[in-house]
Amino acid sequence: MKCYSFLLESIHKDNSYNDALKVFNTLSDKEKWLVCPKSGKLKNVPTLYRHVIKDKAFIDLYPYNGNKEIGFIILAVNPKYRNQGLTKQLLNQTKEDCKRLGVRKLRWRCESDNEASLKSALSNGFKITAKGKSYYSLEFKI
Ligand SMILES: CC(C)(COP(=O)(O)OP(=O)(O)OC[C@H]1O[C@@H](n2cnc3c(N)ncnc32)[C@H](O)[C@@H]1OP(=O)(O)O)[C@@H](O)C(=O)NCCC(=O)NCCS
Repeated sequence: MKCYSFLLESIHKDNSYNDALKVFNTLSDKEKWLVCPKSGKLKNVPTLYRHVIKDKAFIDLYPYNGNKEIGFIILAVNPKYRNQGLTKQLLNQTKEDCKRLGVRKLRWRCESDNEASLKSALSNGFKITAKGKSYYSLEFKI
């Protein structure tokens, strides 16, 4: 199993976007839109952080409203490898790495009908900070 994490200043020097994309492409069309609500596509833009468990799962952190101390989470697990605790594994590593990177808060947004996403966030210590008509916003303080 290939597993790595790094600062994405190096995004153009490696193929990790392609590894994340490979996992993203295992999702159904509906799930792609849940993960990337604006386009349904995982764009190759600089992130604060990326961690891929090759072929199985990935997490990306994007600066929230341009603030590099707040990481906005994009996360997906290949359907073949769900309910095995991979999300917990990714988040535990991410929380640890965030201390080193100076990221102080993680934000997670999920659609209200995305039960798996909401349960995963709550079971990993995130607290609901806002509830819209069709979504929840959650936060975790590092
Ligand atoms: C949400 C997602 C990342 C969860 O991944 P996972 O690795 O299967 O989750 P875990 O195995 O770590 O389980 C986390 C918790 O959520 C619960 N859960 C997972 N899938 C569930 C489902 N379909 N329905 C209800 N609860 C679910 C688990 O029981 C577990 O709860 P526990 O900690 O109380 O036991 C995965 O379902 C996924 O990739 N979904 C599509 C993409 C997406 O919605 N991403 C999040 C939005 S950014």
